[in-house]
Amino acid sequence: MDKKIPLSLSFDDVLLIPQKSEVLPKNIITKSIFSRNIRLNIPVVSAAMDTVTESKMAIAVAREGGIGIIHKNMSIERQAEEIDKVKRYESGMITNPVTLGPKNKIHEAIDLMHKYEISGIPIIDKTLKIIGIITKRDIIFLDNLEENIEKRMTKESELITAEKGTTFENAKKLLQKYKIEKLPIIDDNKHLIGLITIKDIIKKELYPMAAKDKLGRLFVGAALGVTEDVIERANELVKMNVDCFIVDTAHGHSSGVINVIKKLKSKFSNIDIIVGNVATAKAVKDLALLGVDAIKVGVGPGSICTTRVIAGVGVAQFTAIYECSYEAKKFSIPVIADGGIKYSGDIVKALAAGASSVMIGGLLAGTDESPGSTEIHEGRKFKIYRGMGSIDAMKAGSSDRYFQSDMSKFVPEGVVGKVPYSGTVKEVIYQLTGGIRSGMGYVGCKTINKLQKNAKFIRITSAGLRESHPHDIIMTKEPPNYEPMR
Ligand code: XMP
Repeated sequence: MDKKIPLSLSFDDVLLIPQKSEVLPKNIITKSIFSRNIRLNIPVVSAAMDTVTESKMAIAVAREGGIGIIHKNMSIERQAEEIDKVKRYESGMITNPVTLGPKNKIHEAIDLMHKYEISGIPIIDKTLKIIGIITKRDIIFLDNLEENIEKRMTKESELITAEKGTTFENAKKLLQKYKIEKLPIIDDNKHLIGLITIKDIIKKELYPMAAKDKLGRLFVGAALGVTEDVIERANELVKMNVDCFIVDTAHGHSSGVINVIKKLKSKFSNIDIIVGNVATAKAVKDLALLGVDAIKVGVGPGSICTTRVIAGVGVAQFTAIYECSYEAKKFSIPVIADGGIKYSGDIVKALAAGASSVMIGGLLAGTDESPGSTEIHEGRKFKIYRGMGSIDAMKAGSSDRYFQSDMSKFVPEGVVGKVPYSGTVKEVIYQLTGGIRSGMGYVGCKTINKLQKNAKFIRITSAGLRESHPHDIIMTKEPPNYEPMR
């Protein structure tokens, strides 16, 4: 055992020192690196938890410029479906549109429209040639849902299409001119190769910060675990065009995780593989040497975590980020700071300490887009939020995260609770990024890169922390970005 016991610090133990600034919050650039090949427009990631991130959350976060990681407490088929929903949600051009044949029934078209929240489906023949399109307008008020689609679809002779290579501007003009909502894109043989929709053009204009892949689809990641079916699961998710995998465990620096990383790296060379969680420089080094594309840091800081009190293990999050980022820089891989973000100021501190993005659970769990319903308690709205190490979540599938898959009775490392309802993801992220902009403005750094190079911290005492929060007042109105610690 080392003779000296080092001190580890938490977000609340430090403050950023203000510095001369020539930059206004509105001019701050919030772009950041998430993993080796994924760039975000804001450094925000939604947690791979079953009360935080499914497709709705992932779509909302990616539209604001971040990325969501779909949890894995669900079957392989369902996780693949959730990824598919995100990848299909918003496109430059949809390259693999949902299609049907002329002999399919109207009720099959309705089912697909519901499933993918779309309003029209191109109809193709056996050679993949487009021969029509069926839209909600064609089938509204129809009684006989057993009819063949060909009876109701817009036929080839009346179909407006565009050639491969059509620009967005040109597509917009055609959609306007013919007052249609969908424009199939075809090749020289009239084979359907894509679809441009009015909905996508509108979304593109409404969400200019959206974080997207090369084909204009929203970014999304998926959690994997140290499980028997990991490769089978990964294969299905790759088919749905998932952008990255996070091997998500409570202790990333362990041989089971290392074996999974090796397997994934050898099978999927074109997809970013991220691993977590760790809290030491040695873990970062060992995992970086395996060629991982980002490292997730945080052992026990989460708002629902009990790892530190049950197992007695962890490193206070500020120090963990600082030490891990320092090591990760040597390998040019980004660090994701996972857990413990209570306020936007903690995000600024995490970034300044070296993280390139932060993963958030609790602060997003109260939004409309998190899974689960709202409940009222003493006149106030709440949403359920639970740790993936809680008994309930482990029963639902996350026991491998805590290396307890083969245990007949669990030893939980997380709790179940509720968080105040907080409106839409858009509103919450507006406040969080507003705080990031403000913080970077105070220290005079226009980019996250500069913040990491120039930031200076000062340690504070418990008196300093008390002084930092509102004090000596009975708050009568809580602002949207401040919840007193309870
Ligand atoms: P926040 O503070 O944002 O933290 O709510 C979310 C992160 O906490 C981790 N996590 C857990 N850690 N026991 C733990 O020790 C748990 O039950 C648990 N569930 C989630 C996870 O890293 C998440 O992103």
